[in-house]
Amino acid sequence: MNHIMRDMAEPADLFDPRHYTGVRRPFYSAETLPPWCYTSEKWYAREKETIFKKFWNCLGHESRVPDVGSYITLSFADVPLIIVRGKDKVVRAFINSCSHRGSAILEGEGTCAHTMKCPYHAWAFDFEGALVGTPLIIEEEHFQKAEHGLVQIRLEIWCGLMWINFDASAQALTDYLGDLTQRVAPWKTEEMVCVARREFPVKANWKFYAENWSDGYHVPFVHQTTLNKKRVSKRDFHDPSVHVGNYLMHYTYFSGSRGTPEGQKKLPELDLPEELKIGTFFPYVHSNAMIGFAIDMVSCTEIIPEGPGACRLFTSTMVPKSTAALPDFQETLDLYLKYSDIVRDEDVIAAERQQLGALSAYNRAGCFTPQDKLVHDYDLWILDRVIGNASP
Ligand code: FES
Ligand SMILES: [Fe+2]
Repeated sequence: MNHIMRDMAEPADLFDPRHYTGVRRPFYSAETLPPWCYTSEKWYAREKETIFKKFWNCLGHESRVPDVGSYITLSFADVPLIIVRGKDKVVRAFINSCSHRGSAILEGEGTCAHTMKCPYHAWAFDFEGALVGTPLIIEEEHFQKAEHGLVQIRLEIWCGLMWINFDASAQALTDYLGDLTQRVAPWKTEEMVCVARREFPVKANWKFYAENWSDGYHVPFVHQTTLNKKRVSKRDFHDPSVHVGNYLMHYTYFSGSRGTPEGQKKLPELDLPEELKIGTFFPYVHSNAMIGFAIDMVSCTEIIPEGPGACRLFTSTMVPKSTAALPDFQETLDLYLKYSDIVRDEDVIAAERQQLGALSAYNRAGCFTPQDKLVHDYDLWILDRVIGNASP
């Protein structure tokens, strides 16, 4: 049966809740987010303000800045940032913009010996963000260095991972995570070492990749020759009355490890209670972190949005120190990384195909099935942030 083609072009009144009533219908008749949510510059700009600058965001393992003075620079939600480790060993985040006339201070990554020096007029900042050097300029009544420090962004460490929040009034990270800290405590992730960080550019909107994380339906098809070779006996899906915190989880039940194909070498199992050794726990921590707590490792993929039609993934792989010290560790790890690269590519291709489909201004609204119900929950979360949860 043919269906009526709808004009799905971006409307002028983009944020009018009436455009999204279909998404808010009960699950069995709900529609997907309209395609413009994945292609619109205006929608993406609103996501930056209502999601990425309001919620906690993961920026990878703290070993990215191992020593005093170690720094990385990056752009997150189009905000230039410096992450640097201080003399007190604490990791801090600053806006990468000089308090004199705004120049970016550092680029790339590396280690500063004593201070972070602006390349324009050589103002120097210590690793706590205080202005400590102003060549040729002396302090006087109208110019006090103490008033010209760098702008600091909140940064907390959880599970060995660095999390930032632009919102000064946001909840502390542990409150924000609710019961998640307790749920994942048996993995002792904070004692693990990060043994790999892999980067994957994606030519698709960040939500297509994020939604796919919560979609169990695609596995037999997209991962036909990889993950699907391992029998999944069931999946538990997020239940807000049970799982409390800013995350959306699923638990996939299978025996053993899915880190490499059947018959290949595996990493040793972690010291976990038996009830946690029956699959993998997958929380999606809003707004950008997808974590897999497996029986032999923990991996975290962070999404860095790069406009409506592109994003970048970074995956950190974490294992106990004792695992990393095994004589054949690198060889086994390489097998894991090779396999996860293949699986990730399969997901990336799926997201990029959805992006191509979303570019059509003529379409009909999409729908959900019981097997991708969690994607509907995820889209409602997005809608509540971007549009607000008021009924039209
Ligand atoms: S802009 Fe940085 S010292 Fe002038
Ligand atoms: Fe997948």
